[in-house]
Amino acid sequence: MTVGIDKIGFYTSPYFIDMVDLAHARNEDPKKYLIGIGQKKQAVIPPTQDVVTMAANAAQKILSEGDKEKIDLVIFGTETGVDNSKSAAIYVQSLLGISKQARSFEIKQACYGGTAGVQMAVDHIRLHPESKALVLAADIARYGLNTPGEVTQGGGAVAMVISSNPRILEVEDKRSFHSDNIMDFWRPLYRHDAVVDGHYSNSIYADFFQQTWMDYRQKYHRTIDDFRALTFHLPYTKMGLKALRSIIDQSKHPEAILEQFEASRMYNALVGNLYTGSLYLSLISLLSNSEALNQDDLIGLFSYGSGAQGEFYSGRLSDQFDRSQLKTDMDTILSERSRITIEQYQEMYQTFLPLNEEDKLFDVSSDNSCFVLKGRKENRRIYLTKN
Ligand code: CAA
Repeated sequence: MTVGIDKIGFYTSPYFIDMVDLAHARNEDPKKYLIGIGQKKQAVIPPTQDVVTMAANAAQKILSEGDKEKIDLVIFGTETGVDNSKSAAIYVQSLLGISKQARSFEIKQACYGGTAGVQMAVDHIRLHPESKALVLAADIARYGLNTPGEVTQGGGAVAMVISSNPRILEVEDKRSFHSDNIMDFWRPLYRHDAVVDGHYSNSIYADFFQQTWMDYRQKYHRTIDDFRALTFHLPYTKMGLKALRSIIDQSKHPEAILEQFEASRMYNALVGNLYTGSLYLSLISLLSNSEALNQDDLIGLFSYGSGAQGEFYSGRLSDQFDRSQLKTDMDTILSERSRITIEQYQEMYQTFLPLNEEDKLFDVSSDNSCFVLKGRKENRRIYLTKN
């Protein structure tokens, strides 16, 4: 029996800023952002969206009524949680009408939460192949206006149905981990924006990639040329390129591997960092934009969450689904967004529910998403289903 990703859905904000506009506003050479960082556009999340609504919007596109009955596990990976007690998974389960006979909870380990969810769900389905699991990975990446990290912001959600006989990716029982207590990036409870030691975080990412890659190679006697493509957590797309370049001389056909990497970073360069969802947006990008993929191709996935946890694992492409439809859907989502000015972005960036008990309601009329956040009253978040 095979187990893995059967369906995958994506949501991001209808607004973005252009990285050339941001570079001009910050007196930087646009080439630094476009080439040095590898980002072209950045999603800007309006106050009417949070991780709950974004995840529900991503999942709603892929779930059938049959899925909703069969799902008995909902795992929400996020580092942008909306409550210190109640999980975002429970809100989404209710918004989507998923069976109440499900186990629903939230998990956290920075950007690694999506992968932790996928692997827990895979293990669950191996024991209970007749059921299905929903894994949600949603975040809003914020470093602050006028900070070095600003160019690496973004946001959105990926939703995945994990099942037996998956149509997209069969997750292999082959994985390597590395974890250590590192202060490279974190967000204390009193802050909206992350605290980050940017250059240190880059070197830790690179180190964790080396550790997990070497461990995986030794355990499973595989080389880089066993893989059709390697995909990465992409806090910004140059980071993944740097990691790949660090092992590319192990390959006999480096151009082919680099070509697949280009396909896997196209959408991330247009959205920015999704934290937990970033690796899975990269997988979507590969599936949509590669012309070299075939059934049974081996795909490597490197997941990294600051603080820090790394994992390298692998899967085989089932290729039993319509990849051209996925590309059409993704290109539509990304092309229908509106470009906003840096002034509009700065205003939107500073509008959110405050970190205190104040009631606040937003005007949701301009947000055409299915699920929106109306605001907060008497300490209760108010979610609306629009259509
Ligand atoms: N033309 C072309 N390239 C240029 C250039 C120009 N005119 N000017 C500069 N560059 C290049 C630099 O050479 C550099 O390239 P290399 O990294 O290949 O050397 C690149 O642009 C970036 O330049 P700087 O290092 O000078 O940039 P910076 O100091 O302003 O900060 C950053 C970069 C550290 C990534 C910062 O954006 C940041 O702190 N980001 C947030 C943290 C982050 O994303 N860390 C990633 C690892 S942690 C993780 O993965 C978890 C997570 O999701 C956060």
